[in-house]
Amino acid sequence: MSRNLHVAIVGATGAVGVEMLKVLERRKFPVSKLTLLASARSAGKRLPFLGEEVEVQELREDSFAGIDVALFSAGGSISKHYGPIAVQAGAVVVDNSSAFRMDEHVPLVVPEVNGADIALSRGIIANPNCTTAITLMALWPLHQAFGVKRLFAASYQAVSGTGAQAIEELRQQVEALASGRPVIKAVYPHQIAFNVLPHVDSFLESGYTREEMKMQNEGRRIMHHPGLKASVTCVRVPVYRAHSVAVNAEFERPVSVEKAREVLAAAPGLKLVDDPANCLYPMPLDCAEQDDCQVGRIRLDCALENGLAFWVAGDQLLKGAALNAVQIAERI
Ligand code: A2P
Repeated sequence: MSRNLHVAIVGATGAVGVEMLKVLERRKFPVSKLTLLASARSAGKRLPFLGEEVEVQELREDSFAGIDVALFSAGGSISKHYGPIAVQAGAVVVDNSSAFRMDEHVPLVVPEVNGADIALSRGIIANPNCTTAITLMALWPLHQAFGVKRLFAASYQAVSGTGAQAIEELRQQVEALASGRPVIKAVYPHQIAFNVLPHVDSFLESGYTREEMKMQNEGRRIMHHPGLKASVTCVRVPVYRAHSVAVNAEFERPVSVEKAREVLAAAPGLKLVDDPANCLYPMPLDCAEQDDCQVGRIRLDCALENGLAFWVAGDQLLKGAALNAVQIAERI
């Protein structure tokens, strides 16, 4: 980008919005002016940016005058309503919600995989589902080497993926349990502290959840691979930050662990952490607040033909959301 830009963050006070601010700062994104937008509840709050404090404003239909780039992370209904309004006002929108991800006129982008699709945008570019983005960081290099046919996966998803209130719910439940007080549930239908919930997003008639189908639906679009099949179980775990995914993938061509390690070690945005003998493998605590995703536990799958099993983890607030959005904005 050759000039400094007026950037807006819609949902600036949320778990992802706050990360967007930090990523813009850290990556020295060329910001001439920053407009922070959230609900009326947050109007007047001040958030730090480049040593100054920027006041949060209430999101309104006239909020987008003069804005060049608008990063949206305030939920699907806000994106659906205000995204086109922002485009109409002349902004390019990078949307973190699922509102436009399956819209054929909206590129769905992980820059390391299909950054070239950004050029096809008509004003809105969609940021993928966080679990899908993290999985593709490892699956894409393997797909290029061996041609993926189908995959089975189980995710271990951090509460920050649900948002700021869920982080607070886990913290309060842990404190309550440690001091013998009753647990209060508000965000999740069950206690999340010291538990795992095989339930992320709403259930479909098929028995899968919406979140589980995103891997296949969004993976097909991002990798330009309409034949990809993915059967996924998404699980919420009492981890604050960083998602992990256990993947078993079957490929067209014969695979080898050596070649898999070689292509994964060379992949941008991905670190190979695969030395089980020394207890080295990716873990959410090690991925939290890190830009790079990590992959390890790479082995030949004993139940699939031409199959590989691996474990990939990444900070879903970063690669799964804020970092990916800013990387897209950098390429516009
Ligand atoms: P607010 O903090 O004022 O509620 P999270 O995903 O962490 O829950 O964050 C959601 C983000 O979306 C927050 O910044 C939140 O602002 C914002 N948001 C939620 N509802 C609205 C709304 N009706 N108008 C504008 N921003 C909203």
